[in-house]
Amino acid sequence: MLRQLRPRSSLIQQSPLRLLATCRQYSIQASGASTIKRQDIDPSSLTITKTTTPKETLPPTDLVFGRTFTDHMLSLEWTASEGWLAPRITPYQNLSLDPASCVFHYAFTAFEGMKAYKDSAGQVRLFRPERNMARLNKSSARIALPTFDGAAMIELIAKFAQLESRFIPDMKGYSLYLRPTMIGTQRTLGVGPPGSALFYLIASPVGPYYPTGFKAISLEATDYAVRAWPGGVGNSKLGANYAPCIVPQMEAAKRGFHQNLWLFGEEEYVTEVGTMNLFVAMKNKETGQKELITAPLDGTILEGVTRDSILSLARQKLAPEGWIISEKKYTMKDLDDAANQGRLIEVFGAGTAAIVAPVRNISWKGKMVDCGLKPGEEAGQLTLQLKDWIEARQYGDEEHEWSYTVPK
Ligand SMILES: Cc1ncc(COP(=O)(O)O)c(C=O)c1O
Repeated sequence: MLRQLRPRSSLIQQSPLRLLATCRQYSIQASGASTIKRQDIDPSSLTITKTTTPKETLPPTDLVFGRTFTDHMLSLEWTASEGWLAPRITPYQNLSLDPASCVFHYAFTAFEGMKAYKDSAGQVRLFRPERNMARLNKSSARIALPTFDGAAMIELIAKFAQLESRFIPDMKGYSLYLRPTMIGTQRTLGVGPPGSALFYLIASPVGPYYPTGFKAISLEATDYAVRAWPGGVGNSKLGANYAPCIVPQMEAAKRGFHQNLWLFGEEEYVTEVGTMNLFVAMKNKETGQKELITAPLDGTILEGVTRDSILSLARQKLAPEGWIISEKKYTMKDLDDAANQGRLIEVFGAGTAAIVAPVRNISWKGKMVDCGLKPGEEAGQLTLQLKDWIEARQYGDEEHEWSYTVPK
């Protein structure tokens, strides 16, 4: 619960329903099955309480990812009996949750990562926000957290982004990282569907991932742990998917690698890298045709918005030039063979944070697979081209349906 809005002393003698109506605590006992029709999000009931202590904005070049936050947060509470309560924008503040809240014990948490950009006319834009909302709904539903009307939530996020627009530097490469988060708040140690939940959105101004130009990364293929498996939850953006990845990431870092590459199965299928999807450009073994390959959506990888954008752009702009665009399974051996036979053109990661991250080499089975960059080169031509195409749509240089212009 938002601490300053919770008059604790007034909670004690009231009935749970009355409590909800007056102060909306986040940790409640669910009232069980209900016949009341649950309400969806109602953007018209938004209330805004502005901060009285606005923060100073940092010089853009001092921004560090996820370290500083804007003045406000958006929050909406949900109960199984009532549905979504009125949305609120309030000053950014601590949450106060009962220590028995199910989020702390059973990882009832799903989240998103998206950005707001400022275009050359100073207008705030979101990039394919409906995709993030659809993914959050899918992730939430997978762990019995509530779902919501995506369009209504985008309306609220847009209002929030507009309110915080002074935090978005109007320079290419800069943006406001938005973190929509859903947590189960029911106070119980029983393992079951949460009877109450909280959605909140916080935001952090960010600079370009590579402030001084691209720096190609080195990967370590992880063969002693798996991130996801068929029938699991690797395709959902759940908090529970991320904590277990840190130790393999630290192990890779210890040996001097930037990220670890997740393989799957005896065949060592290449899946994804850190918090990015992976793309490989190589010449096809049989035809010699150029092929852009990424792993298929088989449930073991996250359905990245950047991944989808790259595939779509490649089908539109590269396929007519003779490229094959493939979503298919490929193994670490396929990649190594292509490198050995001089067929590997480029490898790059793709995600909201960096857009694209060029890969120099991959450590696998004690050897180094060279991913095709020339000495001294930090990014391949295709990687740079794709970044430009995506940025043009994110910053509104190319007017496109992927860009959602926030009303002023
Ligand atoms: C595991 C994982 N894969 C891929 C991605 C890339 O997804 P997106 O392009 O939507 O940022 C992310 C980042 O959200 C991620 O956490």
